[in-house]
Amino acid sequence: MRTLIKDGTVVTASDTYVADVWIEDGKIVGLTHPAQRGALGGTAADHTIDATGQYVIPGGIDCHTHMELPFGGTTASDDFDTGTVAAAHGGTTTIVDFAIQSKGSSMRAGLDAWFAKAEGKAAIDYGFHMIMTEANPTALADMAAMVREGVTSFKMFMAYPGVFLVDDQQIFRAMQRAGELGALITMHAEIGLPIDVLVQQALAAGRTAPIYHALTRPEVAEATGTERAIALAEMAGVPVYMVHLSAQRALERVMEARDRGLPTYAETCPQYLFCTEDDLRGEPPGQGNGGESDEERAWKGAGYVCTPPLRPRHHHDHLWRGLRNYDLQVVATDHCPFCMKDQKALGRGDFSKIPNGMPGVETRLHLLWEGVTQGKISINRFVEITATAPAKLFGMYPRKGSIAVGSDADIVVWDPTRSKRLGTDTLHMRVDYSPFEGRTVPASPSHVLARGELIVHNDQWVGKAKQGRGQFIRRGTFAL
Ligand code: URP
Ligand code: ZN
Ligand code: ZN
Repeated sequence: MRTLIKDGTVVTASDTYVADVWIEDGKIVGLTHPAQRGALGGTAADHTIDATGQYVIPGGIDCHTHMELPFGGTTASDDFDTGTVAAAHGGTTTIVDFAIQSKGSSMRAGLDAWFAKAEGKAAIDYGFHMIMTEANPTALADMAAMVREGVTSFKMFMAYPGVFLVDDQQIFRAMQRAGELGALITMHAEIGLPIDVLVQQALAAGRTAPIYHALTRPEVAEATGTERAIALAEMAGVPVYMVHLSAQRALERVMEARDRGLPTYAETCPQYLFCTEDDLRGEPPGQGNGGESDEERAWKGAGYVCTPPLRPRHHHDHLWRGLRNYDLQVVATDHCPFCMKDQKALGRGDFSKIPNGMPGVETRLHLLWEGVTQGKISINRFVEITATAPAKLFGMYPRKGSIAVGSDADIVVWDPTRSKRLGTDTLHMRVDYSPFEGRTVPASPSHVLARGELIVHNDQWVGKAKQGRGQFIRRGTFAL
């Protein structure tokens, strides 16, 4: 079966040109100028997609998702079925999710648990990072087995004492081991122990509303964690990747490291580019309708509780500049949805019990496109931060992340005129609110192809199979 995407404008991280894209057996097999179409013998297609006036871009790669993550006494509401279907509707064709090595249990058990969650369910291709909750000799030995299986990156936390936090000695040992194996350590770089003190003090003072989640996790806690993670990586002589970087001072630590030539990388997420700390306050007191109490209005901020927290608006400009200037390499989502009803509600009266995370896997490209239309990033940079860079950093390039002969035909036909209103009624994520409810974005995918199969057309799932069509991606070792 041969598919032709004709007359579109192909965009890669480096180039923009009009071309026909030929697809066979799930791979891109040719890129030709439309004028050559008639001249090429035997080039009839079984299926043709007319992409005139549209962009043909690599399928998005979201290298930070948490499907079915157990957290704070509940479980993230999207599983590998609903979450990957939603991702595909938004133009993402590969995710890298976080498996967990639970304390006292093996990495093997953690990986098997994540295989069980994904197999037979995922609608798009997926890989796994491994969250390390301890770096004892067994775990350090097990890292090699993970890498052999294509799990070539590990996440460690300086935050969440008693749950995920590991100390510097363990981080350092894991970094050294990662260096031996060609794996990449990714860091949640907020210093969790002093944050915990601030949280306990706020609660003791009766400060229980969602906004205190942000006020007890100051920017300096992330900047210090970032600096420490960079120092540990420098001592170990290895690269390090900061996940979900949210703020100016943390970014400055990354910039300093990169200026010194260190292999320091960082991602940010749409919520840090589009939402602010004020969202955690809910609606301003006295401005709600229907006589809601101030407490009721303040509670609406719970939908914006994620970690690190949302920051004041001025951080946005710094993060966009970081993306433009290559100090930030990736925009991933940290997709970790919890419903307001029953899940976020666990933290009514105690912000520290609100499960941390926001939905986002479906809306990343929609939102970031605003950066292109507003001149904050080029269209090529848009492709790079959403697909090419995560593919390269996480060992999937050139199979994924580009429009090139031999690459998987993971392709989005992106219609710059196809506007969409974001809301729970138009989105597919299994969550009962949208942080962007009512926002209209100017562009969206008209066609989404995954390994050559048209799976989404004009917001409708048209793929033959759905659950289980996604394949596990064995990722390569770090090679930048
Ligand atoms: O709020 C967040 N980020 N939830 C997911 C866990 C994490 O730290 O990435
Ligand atoms: Zn994290
Ligand atoms: Zn996360």
